[in-house]
Amino acid sequence: MTKKRGIYYCSDCKVTLEALSDGTDVKCCGNDMELLIENDKEASLEKHIPIIEKIDGGFKVTVGSVLHPMEEAHYIQWIELNEGDKAQIKFMSPGQQPIADFKTDATEVTAREFCNIHGLWKS
Ligand SMILES: [Fe+2]
Repeated sequence: MTKKRGIYYCSDCKVTLEALSDGTDVKCCGNDMELLIENDKEASLEKHIPIIEKIDGGFKVTVGSVLHPMEEAHYIQWIELNEGDKAQIKFMSPGQQPIADFKTDATEVTAREFCNIHGLWKS
């Protein structure tokens, strides 16, 4: 069953999607898509855990404590800020810095990001 707000991944074609509701299983390339589990423990040399900082009018999210690579073959595809029942996503491209500013009045937020090699991470 698809889980609302779950991030699903196809290991064949590398596509990801976020479910906007609970529902039936989702298939891609003929297989059930994998529900990704959010990592929150660093295990590789690259740093992935999003760092959230309060800024004027919102929050700044940086991936990670040492900036993550943003190369064609290895980069952060998106950074998401979650604030209760709302979310904002910044889509990233190779060559950019893995940093996103989000405008919000929320006081409590969490963040997720997706690395095309190392998967889904949260803080
Ligand atoms: Fe990575």
